[in-house]
Amino acid sequence: MVFSAIVVTSALKSAIGLMGTSLWLIPLLIAGLSYYRYDQLDPESRLIDKHPLYSDYDFIIIGGGSAGAVIASRLSEIPNWNVLLLEAGPDENEITDVPSLAAYLQLTTLDWKYKIEATDKACLAMKGGRCNWPRGKVIGGSSVFNYMLYVRGNKQDYDHWESLGNPGWGYNQVLYYFKKSEDNRNPYLQRSPYHATGGYLTVQESPWKTPLVVAFVQAGIELGYENRDINGEKQTGFMISQGTIRRGSRCSTAKAFLRSIRLRKNIHTAMNSHVTRIVIDPLTMRAIGVEFVRNGRRQIVRARKEVILSAGAINSPQILMLSGIGPKEHLQHVGIPVIKDLQVGENLQDHIGMGGLTFLIDKPVSIVQDRFQAAPILMHYVINGRGPMTTLGGVEGYAFVNTKYANHSIDYPDVQFHMAPASINSDAGVQVRKVLGLTDEVYNAVYRPINNRDTWTIMPLLLRPKSRGTIRLRSSNPFHHPIINANYFSDPMDIAILVEGAKLAIKVSEAKVFKQFGSKLHRIKLPGCKHLKFGTDAYWECHIRHISMTIYHPVGTAKMGPPTDPTAVVDPRLRVYGVAGLRVIDASIMPTICSGNTNAPVIMIGEKGADLIKQDWLSSSTINHEIKRELRKS
Ligand SMILES: Cc1cc2nc3c(=O)[nH]c(=O)nc-3n(C[C@H](O)[C@H](O)[C@H](O)COP(=O)(O)OP(=O)(O)OC[C@H]3O[C@@H](n4cnc5c(N)ncnc54)[C@H](O)[C@@H]3O)c2cc1C
Ligand SMILES: *[C@@H]1O[C@H](CO)[C@@H](O)[C@H](O)[C@H]1NC(C)=O
Repeated sequence: MVFSAIVVTSALKSAIGLMGTSLWLIPLLIAGLSYYRYDQLDPESRLIDKHPLYSDYDFIIIGGGSAGAVIASRLSEIPNWNVLLLEAGPDENEITDVPSLAAYLQLTTLDWKYKIEATDKACLAMKGGRCNWPRGKVIGGSSVFNYMLYVRGNKQDYDHWESLGNPGWGYNQVLYYFKKSEDNRNPYLQRSPYHATGGYLTVQESPWKTPLVVAFVQAGIELGYENRDINGEKQTGFMISQGTIRRGSRCSTAKAFLRSIRLRKNIHTAMNSHVTRIVIDPLTMRAIGVEFVRNGRRQIVRARKEVILSAGAINSPQILMLSGIGPKEHLQHVGIPVIKDLQVGENLQDHIGMGGLTFLIDKPVSIVQDRFQAAPILMHYVINGRGPMTTLGGVEGYAFVNTKYANHSIDYPDVQFHMAPASINSDAGVQVRKVLGLTDEVYNAVYRPINNRDTWTIMPLLLRPKSRGTIRLRSSNPFHHPIINANYFSDPMDIAILVEGAKLAIKVSEAKVFKQFGSKLHRIKLPGCKHLKFGTDAYWECHIRHISMTIYHPVGTAKMGPPTDPTAVVDPRLRVYGVAGLRVIDASIMPTICSGNTNAPVIMIGEKGADLIKQDWLSSSTINHEIKRELRKS
């Protein structure tokens, strides 16, 4: 009991720091979690934040996010390798564990709090014309921030990567790595050849659903789509979301891959360690160490074998450029000595979509903040790990559909839907409006009139944008935010496909099955689109340019490609061109964005990357020995 009291106090402190007063029930939630689950909160299972560190390691991994946590876990399987994981953020906490509170993590101290540059083409309804780009600054990285949706992308994506000159990255080869991580808990998928059990990463449906998601899947069938496992044989279809959750809590990569191996002697995790540069010997052109700042003190740790950069698609290019690897003219412009001229920070791609499409209903079945925050719901979660608080950041269903622009002769949909039993109005403007960065003018005109009314939404998302953006340094100061130019909708096809996606989403909402809820499109015009006739293509285009919504999937900024590709930063074994002992393994290496949410693909990249390292450093007999040892364990 003494112990649980300590948990309550420290958790309360972190909650108050984190949330302010926006959710008055949070302290009760944490007190309850600590009281009822203090046995499960097992303090022994937390990661050890290692002090002091050795002066050198075999491998140093920068960033403990979706990819970095996987790599650290897998490399430390080799007992005579010493591994250091450097992470800028702290450990996860009780709030990050609660699936329904995903959006409440944004704009807190656990967020890097990036914003993209304003253009006249997108994000026009946001403050200053700038969309927020949250990223997790915490062990587990953006897998602690994300909406937990488990989606692998389309087979063609990976076959395309391979056809660009990246052997080993075709679908048949990467499927092995998707399955290696997975522990699927839904019996209906456990027998599928596309899924696996027994991996570190728990995947399952939320134990709680609204009738709206059932209707969503049914509506898809009415429109001629199939209800299918979109991670299986084919992608086109509708489905109840699969998520990375475990017993009703978020299953981040830190929880999945690091907590389970925390007692290994050969892995050190250092939190609150902000990497400022990779140390490269210009004579041998080899990465020999990493410089970072921890608790205000600058340190350098040396790498005996390799430095692995896994800081994500924004920070990996930033750190490369700070280390002298990047476009020569840009580095000279910010005053950084050039070590290697490479197209770092180019090729930025993201999934952009339409936010704010809202359907009003006349039954109390959606998630409305008043009802949602009721104490009984909270206690059901606290005691049983079930109920609405286990919803995957609100996204209950997803679908992959074909607009008129898609290639209908193959299974390669061009638009994804996220379906949520709520919309921007559902929390009366408390949090969703803020994380989007929506202006008061737009909120007050369009959504305030329906505050707390029952609604649901579909977000149509563009799967394969043609537009490309950039990441550039603002200055040579490693603590300055980089300049992010997402460059959304610079290619007119991107907006044209989304307009079709919006119309398809409305068709879904008009299916017979939604009549029982009295589902009706919310028709108040956006202030910036008043001059256009509601419901026309021009109107939807205007809406999309105003409430442009990223689903937070930046990739591609340290592109993988063959030596013949002048825009490639890493080779197909993820080694940085021209610099020995340095790899990038994270979302940055994707040559083209995969057709679906990026977390599972990045975990796959981490798994495969770790195997590439093992292949390069171990003789095949040692690898076989290690594999046998692992097989004996499982
Ligand atoms: C709000 C949100 C919702 C999302 N929803 C989903 C979803 O539902 N499903 C899905 O599949 N994907 C989702 N994503 C995307 C997915 O989570 C990311 O694509 C994935 O986590 C990226 O993995 P990564 O390893 O490349 O980077 P990250 O996971 O971001 O890891 C990078 C790590 O490096 C650390 N780091 C950065 N700079 C430094 C430095 N200088 N020194 C030390 N450490 C540093 C960071 O703190 C972080 O821990 C979402 C993302 C966000 C932000
Ligand atoms: C559609 O895909 C098929 C099969 O890959 C291909 O042969 C055809 O050229 C594609 N059509 C278009 C319009 O891209």
